[in-house]
Amino acid sequence: MPREPKKPGREPLTDVLSYYRDLGVAELYLERARRAGPETPPQGPSPARGQPTVPPAAEALGLPALAREVAACRRCPLADTRKQTVFADGTGPARIMFVGEAPGADEDAQGVPFVGRAGQLLTKMIENGMGISRREVYIANVVKCRPPENRNPEPAEIAACRGYLETQIDLVRPEVLVALGNFAAKFLLGTEEGIMKIRGRWGEYRGVPVMPTFHPSFLLRQPDRKRDAWSDLLAVLERIGLPAPPAGGR
Ligand code: URA
Repeated sequence: MPREPKKPGREPLTDVLSYYRDLGVAELYLERARRAGPETPPQGPSPARGQPTVPPAAEALGLPALAREVAACRRCPLADTRKQTVFADGTGPARIMFVGEAPGADEDAQGVPFVGRAGQLLTKMIENGMGISRREVYIANVVKCRPPENRNPEPAEIAACRGYLETQIDLVRPEVLVALGNFAAKFLLGTEEGIMKIRGRWGEYRGVPVMPTFHPSFLLRQPDRKRDAWSDLLAVLERIGLPAPPAGGR
């Protein structure tokens, strides 16, 4: 009587392969560990021509390897003026990933995104407005080094850094992305429309839903728009099936 093949569970790979061989399966194909349709090109502007892409080794080895790669980066002149690179806050994977613009002075000093005044407001938005711990989310910026005098990042600087954020998103595999302000919205959605117009309207980055909302620095200047940002963040919670916190938390 033919042997009943043992079903694979957490056995070594060789046992799993012999199970399928017993079933007559001659070839198996590995699926790439990417959540969103890998064949779909990014909707944002295409990478700068001639820029080296992030080394495949960094993607294969994960976020710590990518962080080391970023720490040694000299792809643009911001490397000459930064104190240190600002890679991310969070370990990944995470269900929600926030994307900001570029580090400021506090972030440059501490090497962590969103730790200055705007960062403190972002923490409140996450913890009080969404009712989740900042530790549960992943936070990164479009540009990993501080532009001098907090000026806007230049298109060439964004292009030089592009592969880092793209790979971070691939590795973090968020269910939803939150674009904080114009630069993040433009990066993720490839739109030229301003945040005033597009905030609160769902978009998509490589199959991942994107919620564009106001940058916390803007909200520090225009606190009357916080109400809009809260409602955008509630839509994020709803999208991934998390409960809204009691309104008193805000
Ligand atoms: N603003 C950003 O966009 N990112 C930070 O990390 C801090 C302030």
